[in-house]
Amino acid sequence: MSQHDKDSELDDYLLFIQKIKTATGIDLAQYKEAQMKRRLTTLRAKHGYDTFAAFFEGMNQNKTLFLEFLDRMTINVSEFWRNRNRWEVLQHKLLPDLYDHLPLKVWSAACSTGEEPYTLAMILDMAGLLPRSKIMATDIDEGALAKAMQGTYLERSLREVPEEAVKTYFKPDGLQYKIDAKLRDAVHFSKQNLLHDSFEDGFDLIVCRNVMIYFTEEAKHMLYQKFAKALRPGGILFVGSTEQIFSPSQYDLEGADTFFYRKKLEE
Ligand SMILES: C[S@@+](CC[C@H](N)C(=O)[O-])C[C@H]1O[C@@H](n2cnc3c(N)ncnc32)[C@H](O)[C@@H]1O
Repeated sequence: MSQHDKDSELDDYLLFIQKIKTATGIDLAQYKEAQMKRRLTTLRAKHGYDTFAAFFEGMNQNKTLFLEFLDRMTINVSEFWRNRNRWEVLQHKLLPDLYDHLPLKVWSAACSTGEEPYTLAMILDMAGLLPRSKIMATDIDEGALAKAMQGTYLERSLREVPEEAVKTYFKPDGLQYKIDAKLRDAVHFSKQNLLHDSFEDGFDLIVCRNVMIYFTEEAKHMLYQKFAKALRPGGILFVGSTEQIFSPSQYDLEGADTFFYRKKLEE
């Protein structure tokens, strides 16, 4: 490919990013470029468009294509009790320290199809704290949120759920499993773009896992600042298993355990 062709291909993608931002508020420039471009180029080719300009026009005329684009750019893979030993650290080591701050205000940010906030709800229920907790769960993807609110799951997403919890919190529903209504009613789902929208504050616990990996370093830096501000002093941030924060002290955070950070207490 000639340099000229490479330049016009890049311009085509950058213009697409701008148009998507204007049309949806989603800033693709804050996601790692190579990864995102590869995923979207595959989708574009699958639908027979040669350029991102044509692909954008196509989406304007075809809502289904637009929804498929949204689905492709947001990766919704999730699981209950994902990396279970980390949830056990939360349950047995870190949560007891939060008990003197009831009611608890907790948030599952980028909650996908709900497995993560429902795991939180299970753990709080096991500790007898569910009635005294407010659980927020947000995601950018309305399709994922609709599925989360429905609360029906395939057996494979229950793989890591402790046996007792499967019995207590799930009911077989045909080939699927339905989450207990008590948990469903306890989680408040809403749409939110982490890279754009403002955050509430005063959280005792924020869980944000397996989404940071898709963001650029600048976007991550901005988000850690926002999360730290949203936590109350002593509050905990729980991140994904490849998402350690390097030099957490720059955000007024300190390590509380592997993949957990505590907002420093005010001096
Ligand atoms: C791989 S899932 C992670 C789900 C869950 N946190 C877990 O660890 O199992 C990533 C989620 O991030 C969401 N997401 C991507 N960009 C986002 C943004 N800018 N704001 C909010 N959610 C976003 C996607 O829609 C997707 O549901």
